[in-house]
Amino acid sequence: MRYSQYDYHPTMDSSSDTIENWWSDHWKARKGLTEHQFDTPVWETIKDIVQTPGTLLEAGCGVPNWVKHFDKLGFDAIGVDFAPTGLLIGLKDEPNLKLMRSDFRQLAVSDNSMDYILSLGAIEHDKAGPDKALKEFHRTLKSDGYLMCSVPCLNIKRQLGLPLLVARDQLKRTKILRKLWNKTEPFEFYQYVWSPATYRKILAKAGFELIEMRGYGYKENPSVIESSMTKIYNLYGPHMMMAICKKIR
Ligand SMILES: C[S@@+](CC[C@H](N)C(=O)[O-])C[C@H]1O[C@@H](n2cnc3c(N)ncnc32)[C@H](O)[C@@H]1O
Repeated sequence: MRYSQYDYHPTMDSSSDTIENWWSDHWKARKGLTEHQFDTPVWETIKDIVQTPGTLLEAGCGVPNWVKHFDKLGFDAIGVDFAPTGLLIGLKDEPNLKLMRSDFRQLAVSDNSMDYILSLGAIEHDKAGPDKALKEFHRTLKSDGYLMCSVPCLNIKRQLGLPLLVARDQLKRTKILRKLWNKTEPFEFYQYVWSPATYRKILAKAGFELIEMRGYGYKENPSVIESSMTKIYNLYGPHMMMAICKKIR
């Protein structure tokens, strides 16, 4: 699938040469693991799915708070990330956690072995697109397992402002303006932001049946219009969308 330019691609200024190093720098500042994740918006979107403990892989675990959370709940949980710093922070607090420094597009995990695959804001960071990651999730998930995979949401609000976002990004890319703004760092791809419709197509092409698309990361103090719109359509304004999926084939 070609990823339409319509879906806006924010970009980052960074002194890190690869996205892997960028994440590694990012996690360095974290002090340790949380006690649990019950009070997070993500938990609200997945808690009904993860009722029965089983094998669970988190693809792109960063600082492995979720791996610890599921481990304590009796899951056989494993976290995978290619950036080492978050994993090391996790191991310092909880040396017995199962963590793997690896690329989740090539997992050292058997076929059909996971009851759950969780991935939070990770697959959109591959410039080549998410197909390779989803293929690997499909291979390793059991036939009756669940994929819970979130990405940023090109929600209705963002779609309405899209021309401005695209124009802003175009200006940020312009060499002469970058010189004027004294921007010397490389100007790199950071992530895709898909509309719910595009994300649904991506998942279907990868062999996943979408059970439900759930929004999370809503504005803390929404206006009356915003909360009414959200009641009508849950993907009106969330920062992230979580696809709850099963395998089709
Ligand atoms: C937004 S963070 C999510 C971290 C954590 N799950 C959380 O919710 O706090 C995305 C993570 O995915 C990791 N990541 C992105 N692409 C990856 C890949 N191909 N293989 C392994 N890890 C990857 C990054 O290193 C980063 O730690």
